[in-house]
Amino acid sequence: MPIYFDHNATTPLDPRVLEAMLPYLRGAYGNASSVHRYGRAARAAIEAARVQVAAWVGAEPAQLIWTSGATESNNLALKGVAASATKKSRVLYGATEHPAVLEAALALAEAGWGVETIAVDGDGIVDWPTYTAQLSAAPVCLVALMAANNETGVIQDTARAATLAHAAGALMHIDAVQAAGKIDIDFAASGADLMSVSAHKVYGPKGIGALIVGADVELQPQQRGGGQEHGRRGGTENLPAIVGFGIAAELAGEERAARAAATLALRLRLEAGLRQVPDVTVFAESAPRLPNTVQFGLLGWEGEALLMALDRAGIAVSSGSACASGSGEPSHVLLGMGLPREIAYRAVRVSLGPGNTDAEIDRFLSELSALRLQAAA
Ligand SMILES: Cc1ncc(COP(=O)(O)O)c(C=O)c1O
Repeated sequence: MPIYFDHNATTPLDPRVLEAMLPYLRGAYGNASSVHRYGRAARAAIEAARVQVAAWVGAEPAQLIWTSGATESNNLALKGVAASATKKSRVLYGATEHPAVLEAALALAEAGWGVETIAVDGDGIVDWPTYTAQLSAAPVCLVALMAANNETGVIQDTARAATLAHAAGALMHIDAVQAAGKIDIDFAASGADLMSVSAHKVYGPKGIGALIVGADVELQPQQRGGGQEHGRRGGTENLPAIVGFGIAAELAGEERAARAAATLALRLRLEAGLRQVPDVTVFAESAPRLPNTVQFGLLGWEGEALLMALDRAGIAVSSGSACASGSGEPSHVLLGMGLPREIAYRAVRVSLGPGNTDAEIDRFLSELSALRLQAAA
């Protein structure tokens, strides 16, 4: 049986989510903007899902905008806030952010904004003195910081970052894609002004996400059309996916503690095993990390080569973020943490799900030991 250890890239669709979606792929196909009964049924389903997803992340339903996924959510957050500003100033973002934030920031730089990375230390945690100095150097419009990193699993103190951002008059955006469903996420308590989430990381369908926007935040739509989402994001709503996201979010909330406990037990078993394998380095080992994520390097192996060797052995892992794989470049996350390129090149990520087993961990460890000997030979 193949082993799937790549849950930070995407998760399988929960059969309960699929069941909930099926009626909306069959008979209940109305357009939520239509006034007749088909449309009203679609509207009711969308609003019910809005309540479910908002409740999951501690937000008000009216604060939620449906998007095509967190890539769009992050782009909408950065570009939408920038477009609402009366004059161009600066945007700060974490050095280890997902490309969806990095690239959106790059677009702002091209449009004349000052954009600066927030440095992280060797464990991937924000360098607080530098961040504080950046905030006071000149006006900042927006700070973007992820709640948890997709590669290393490192958890940031986003509440502290938000307090400092607000004191400097800046808004705070949190990419909560990897954190949501794995650790407690609460929009209201986080102090964030904007927050991104995505369904396919929590056993929901692909191509559906949300941006949570605080009541006082001005956000210029980046996609105009038929006035959907109160004019904040035009386009006919993806009804079956939205319904699926609603159920996935509800289940992620109910089962979060159990999923976290199950994956943490597996991760600890894996890490104990990795410590027995000579020449393995676990990255950000001493930082607070997601319960399901381990990123490591094996001396003598580039991450891509190790990934392919493990794939031949029937084990699916990642060599960093899925989007960066195949680029031939070492992980920007590890480079941002100050690791030398030759070590960053080794990065392999294991991201576990509650469906994984001890036996799978043990098989992985024995495959890895065999591959290590192969490299050493
Ligand atoms: C931290 C983070 N942000 C954003 C995204 C993009 O999400 P989506 O696949 O929904 O566009 C991902 C997906 O890998 C992610 O891990």
